[in-house]
Amino acid sequence: MINKIQNIINKKNKSKIVSLTAYSKNVAKILDKYCDIVLVGDSLANVLYGLNNTHKINLENMIQHTLSVKKGIKKSLLVVDMPKGSYRNLNLAKKNAKLLIRKTKCDAIKIESNKKNFKIIRSLVKHKIPVMGHIGFTPQFKKKFKIQGDTKNEAKKLLKEAKDIEKAGAFSIVLECVNSSASKLITNSLKIPTIGIGSSIHCDGQILVTDDMLGISGFYPKFVKKYLSLDRIIEKAIKKYTRDVKLNRFPSKKNYLNGSK
Ligand code: KIV
Repeated sequence: MINKIQNIINKKNKSKIVSLTAYSKNVAKILDKYCDIVLVGDSLANVLYGLNNTHKINLENMIQHTLSVKKGIKKSLLVVDMPKGSYRNLNLAKKNAKLLIRKTKCDAIKIESNKKNFKIIRSLVKHKIPVMGHIGFTPQFKKKFKIQGDTKNEAKKLLKEAKDIEKAGAFSIVLECVNSSASKLITNSLKIPTIGIGSSIHCDGQILVTDDMLGISGFYPKFVKKYLSLDRIIEKAIKKYTRDVKLNRFPSKKNYLNGSK
């Protein structure tokens, strides 16, 4: 496990880190061939459960989806989001992080920063739990979806937050919706890799929500590059199936279990 983590750290300044989210085995199996990191993000609240925010997802939900994802993963680093409220104090964070790792055999957990909880990261790392930080737009703590670190003062504050997290022992940090020069400053100031989402090319790696980049989530902010319109492809197939059923074309004899009778 430590080697897998060290491999990610070693990529800094050498090769870009490729990361995507997964919530289930079938997608994870494809991602595993290409990604350095697969994240079971609490974005599943919005993407899968249609909720307005990530706040109502609980540890059990994260465990169930991670158990599915884990079945598709052979080589990537499997990181799992700790849901809101599951790490609000040291003891709870330790208990829940250990439970998540023990039940799912994931490699690491991710914690969103509220500027003060780097102490929790320090304690988890002391207990040999690998932690990924997350700064900038942190949906568990911030309501308004907007660019972060836009002024010099804001950028300075973000840099301090990132350094506190690095010092606490995190092995990498997600920068979400961070202004491009602030993300450059942070990336160049840290020894651990930064993984950007909506945070420019300057980060050491990139992550996107897979359903967004495949064009199936319906949520496409400017920072998302849509590689596919999967919704249209699925719709085409569903239309064909509907026609086949209505016109008695499906099932045909080749689909019969008892031969062609
Ligand atoms: O929950 C999630 O999918 C995330 C990514 C946006 C980084 O935290």
